Amino acid sequence: MTQIDNVLHENRSFPPSEEFRAKARYSSEEQYEADYRRSIDDPEGFWGDVALELPWIEPFDQVLDWSDAPRAQWFTGGKLNASAVCLDQHLGGARANKTAILWEGEPGDVVSYTYTELHEAVCRFANVLKKRGIQKGDRVAIYMPMIPELAMAVLACARIGAIHSVIFGGFSASSIRDRVEDGACSAIITADGGWRRGKVLALKDVVDEALSEGGASGGVHTVLTVRRTENPVGWTEGRDCWYHELAAEVDADCPPEPMDAEDTLFLLYTSGSTGKPKGIQHTTGGYMVGTYLTTQVVFDLREDDVYWCTADVGWITGHSYIVYGPLANGATCVMYEGAPNQPHPGRFWELIEKHGVTVLYTAPTAIRAFMRWGDEHVDKHDLGSLRLLGSVGEPINPEAWIWYRNKIGGGRCPIVDTWWQTETGGIMMTPLPGVHATKPGSCMKPFFGIDPVVFDSDGEEVTGEGGGYLAIRKPWPSMLRGIWGDSERFRETYWSRFEGNLYFPGDGARVDADGCTWILGRVDDVLNVSGHRLSTMEIESALVSHPSVCEAAVVGRPDEITGQAICAFVSLAAGLEGDADMEAVLAAHVAKEIGKLARPAEIRFADALPKTRSGKIMRRLLRDVAAGKEVTQDTTTLEDVSVIEKLQGR
Ligand code: WT7
Repeated sequence: MTQIDNVLHENRSFPPSEEFRAKARYSSEEQYEADYRRSIDDPEGFWGDVALELPWIEPFDQVLDWSDAPRAQWFTGGKLNASAVCLDQHLGGARANKTAILWEGEPGDVVSYTYTELHEAVCRFANVLKKRGIQKGDRVAIYMPMIPELAMAVLACARIGAIHSVIFGGFSASSIRDRVEDGACSAIITADGGWRRGKVLALKDVVDEALSEGGASGGVHTVLTVRRTENPVGWTEGRDCWYHELAAEVDADCPPEPMDAEDTLFLLYTSGSTGKPKGIQHTTGGYMVGTYLTTQVVFDLREDDVYWCTADVGWITGHSYIVYGPLANGATCVMYEGAPNQPHPGRFWELIEKHGVTVLYTAPTAIRAFMRWGDEHVDKHDLGSLRLLGSVGEPINPEAWIWYRNKIGGGRCPIVDTWWQTETGGIMMTPLPGVHATKPGSCMKPFFGIDPVVFDSDGEEVTGEGGGYLAIRKPWPSMLRGIWGDSERFRETYWSRFEGNLYFPGDGARVDADGCTWILGRVDDVLNVSGHRLSTMEIESALVSHPSVCEAAVVGRPDEITGQAICAFVSLAAGLEGDADMEAVLAAHVAKEIGKLARPAEIRFADALPKTRSGKIMRRLLRDVAAGKEVTQDTTTLEDVSVIEKLQGR
């Protein structure tokens, strides 16, 4: 909880302009308070009404069944299909020819799909999956670049009731293998490649490598490959097939599979405080209701918006706020394949001007990078179409917030700083843009139905401004329903920290005198690097799997751009030298084991790591060393005090 000093003294606040407020769906505190109160006092009435706005195939009998807590069941008895919520419901009326996805590739190629066209493409995709024998309940891994076919693949799985498990394109072969094995996936959808920083990322090759060592490949009968970059790919007859070849053989008629509200829609793996990623399980009804309402209210969505969430569909932000939430609302969504500085650092601003983007949802790490790249890249473009800005993924520092507001938003666009997680499925805390006078760095207020509380380490409620552990008191529709294949870990991780079925997200928080919430960062061994969640244990096990490494400890240190950076402390096997070559070898090894996103920014070598007399690595102390701080912690329990001096390079 290192952020507390930074935010304690922040007392600026920015109310929405009269112009914004005049058109906003929620435009007064009274209006927010009234709906919030109802959502807390009568959650079933509140969520039942919201759910009725979705097209159900069969109506639900009960809004919430919490009798099997902590596993909630929402909208029991109801049947629906997530792809039909996103597509079919828009076909009858004015949205039929409205643009659903407006996509631009990194090289500048543009393709757009109307709702009618996207519906047809998804039906065809779904028929290809069926043709390959994929059925309701089967798990399908998706490892793709940010191309429209990624959204189609996700929706096609949903259409036939297959459970998708999207794996971010930056993960390595062994990370794919772990996820495919854990989920017992029977098929993988990939692409020959994707464009990233002017180069082809050869995704199919990585999938081949993941499947090359037996194990997972046993269950995978199909690797379906979309052609994007036309680079040569390896081929395994019988298992591998080209999407475009099969698509030409099927028709575009594919009725949506009626799914139970509590049928699993997808798995998405995320890191926890152990070495093994968790397959977070989301179901259909509650997730769709949650993402539908949050998208509509938090982004104050209007019919003519051109909405752009810059996340990758490989993360939860892309699932909820590129695919399901916006499409359920019939929005026009921009999707971009490439890097924000390719071919120039003004690429985002060029895209906003070119496509007339009105709502931009991005991450603090990106905002800080733009600041560093310089205002001149922003100044070249007219950003006058923007009316609302969003931030997600990590705490945003007030300086970046103010820059975002002034430089990108021209001082006129409200900023919604949205706090949530892979596990929560949708936004949990946020200002409402037409209501709240936002404070730079605060995620402000709970969304409807969310009942947060802050506890101290003894489990006592914190009523002052001191800060403590955040917990959520009530179930909400888009909450996770489990960890795939590990109900014990589900209970242990999220529901055992506090008494009485309270959800523990693993974040620290502070509530100020005005009732605004400030997220203080993770309180567990989870790092947040550029808004990507990484487990210190996972990186440590990758390091010790290298024959040169004896022991490793990984901590986060503050970084101006990425929020946190990975700092590894390593002791090597006898006789080996911790020089720059060794550092490069080990960094490459971690990238190979997990993915480039986990590559340490810094590796420090020592003969031994600081441990207590009982043999526990003293991480807090290492955090101070990594941050270049004077070690203030009591070192009397330390086994060998000289270790610290060596690590500090003295
Ligand atoms: C963790 C969740 C939510 C989608 C992207 C990340 C941190 C997220 C904020 C925010 C402060 C934030 C938390 C959370 N986080 N949004 N607006 N302010 N912190 O999803 O990988 O599941 O990570 O990201 O620490 O626990 P995720």
